Amino acid sequence: MKALVLAGGTGSRLRPFTHTGTKQLLPIANKPVLFYALESLAAAGVRELGLVVGPYGDDIRRAAGDGRSFGLDITYLRQDRPRGLAHAVAVARGFLADDDFLLHLGDNFLDGGVAAFAARAVAAPAAARLLVTAVPDPAAFGVAEVDPDGRVRRVEEKPDRPRSDLALIGVYAFGPAVHEAVAAIRPSPRGELELTHAVQWLVDHGHDVRADTTTSVWHDTGSVDDMLEANRHVLDGLTGRLDGKVDHDSAVVGRVLLGEGAVVRGSRVTGPVVIGPGTVISDAVIGPYTAIGANCRIHDSSIEGSVLLDGADVDRAGRIERSFIGRDAVVAAPRHPYAHRLVLGDHSKVHLHP
Ligand code: TTP
Repeated sequence: MKALVLAGGTGSRLRPFTHTGTKQLLPIANKPVLFYALESLAAAGVRELGLVVGPYGDDIRRAAGDGRSFGLDITYLRQDRPRGLAHAVAVARGFLADDDFLLHLGDNFLDGGVAAFAARAVAAPAAARLLVTAVPDPAAFGVAEVDPDGRVRRVEEKPDRPRSDLALIGVYAFGPAVHEAVAAIRPSPRGELELTHAVQWLVDHGHDVRADTTTSVWHDTGSVDDMLEANRHVLDGLTGRLDGKVDHDSAVVGRVLLGEGAVVRGSRVTGPVVIGPGTVISDAVIGPYTAIGANCRIHDSSIEGSVLLDGADVDRAGRIERSFIGRDAVVAAPRHPYAHRLVLGDHSKVHLHP
């Protein structure tokens, strides 16, 4: 079966990081969130994969290449603007032809992957098959109303009064009838071609639309809090290994993955923690649940439950928790103890102690 992965979009909830890059390349446990989807689709038997990209398509192409390292053959498909998930399917019309396909949002993470879902889609093809999961706050999601036999009656985007607690996970299987649906629908009030509208069109026109319920852990990594939560979850399954150097004045406790050329001096690291190659940690306390990228420098600071991207520099910063720190960002104690000096990009967030 072919697959389509959507990695365009605006990513407004992940500003400022999406001012300079695309959210699908932001890391969970030091690996781009997009790669989890690619690996999961390859493990489900997909070979031909279309990747819909926006303005950061070149960055994605540099990272994922032609797909060979994943066992995939990737075709890049350019979407001129984020005109909606159903529009992204229309962009891929030529690539998909009339084949059945899996659709996976490029910023969604599903523990255990999509192999079981893909197998069901192959065994019992339907015009659309939706993967759903019970959530406590369905009003924040696309919601499916499902008959006891798994047939979908209705799908609604972020309904005020949800008719069920089954949220649509960003994983679907479609037959070729979806293209007719996408061609028939009109943009929603927010100006996007909504995939939920295309699915509802299929229901309304008598097509077989099914829902499969999963209880696997699922993360839509659309916001910083979601990213931190997904990071925490993946780190829970981390296997530790020390490829870097730890000096005699340091303690490394629990599962810690220390990259090549990384150095830990006079510090305490409590796993699960991943530290990228070339990073230097000195006189610091790190972890648990922390992912630090490559070539970072952390000195005389304490960091817990956080993500630091490559090249971040943290010096005498006190205690840092639940933070997401961008590439080559600098966090340091003020020279003058009563004044903060801030050079912040648009949409940055800083929480200062009084
Ligand atoms: P969303 O997270 O729903 O939308 P977004 O990326 O615009 O983010 P925000 O709401 O924070 O502004 O998108 C889900 C996935 O689909 C994500 O990987 C981006 C991708 N996408 C496209 O490829 N094309 C599109 O037109 C849209 C809307 C999303």
